[in-house]
Amino acid sequence: MIGKFITAEGTDGSGKSTQLEKLKTYLHSLKIKTLFVREPGGTDISEKIRSLLLDISNSDMAYETEALLYAASRAQLMKEKIIPALESGTFVICDRFVDSSYVYQGYARGLDLKMVEEINKYATFGIMPDITLFFDIAPEKSIERVKKCKVFDRIEKEKLDFHKKVYNGYIELSKKYPRIKRIDASQGIDETFEQVKKYVDIIIGENNE
Ligand code: TYD
Repeated sequence: MIGKFITAEGTDGSGKSTQLEKLKTYLHSLKIKTLFVREPGGTDISEKIRSLLLDISNSDMAYETEALLYAASRAQLMKEKIIPALESGTFVICDRFVDSSYVYQGYARGLDLKMVEEINKYATFGIMPDITLFFDIAPEKSIERVKKCKVFDRIEKEKLDFHKKVYNGYIELSKKYPRIKRIDASQGIDETFEQVKKYVDIIIGENNE
């Protein structure tokens, strides 16, 4: 792989999307060829899977089905977009990736973490991010941000308790994997972006070596 692979993670309402928009503008200003994608989604097939996953009428979806659908959406995205981009030396920024499955399906839903890791090894073709930015904000705060949005999707309807499990899952993962970098997302937009920029500049530097 030649290109660098950066993923972004956090609880719903962590401000991740705003930061990624800023990152997009930043990389554009540096004329770095970048592919931006989001999960679940990013290809026609993956977007169809996304609709199934976030449809509030699918409330009886088995957790195992959910885990496999996220993985299926990911496999398609890898094969169709991420792998070809990395091979051609393009930077890839992905809004959520495997860590979301570890945390939401593993830690929060309670599925066997080993199993979630196994299906995702298959779905990612064994390719992992160079760096993962974890937007860390207390779940009580992030849920307040989410509440301000009018339309809730199926996952966002989950209770605070679920969000706390998601948050604790991210904390556990960030202790386990050095590639996960904690960003203090409780700060203002610009202060938060300064932290993002610091890590991304390191990756850009490595790419130029
Ligand atoms: P989205 O609206 O894209 O959320 P956000 O803007 O917070 O990224 O919805 C994606 C939802 O799917 C989000 O609640 C997290 C969840 N999710 C999983 O449960 N497992 C996964 O593997 C992924 C990628 C997302």
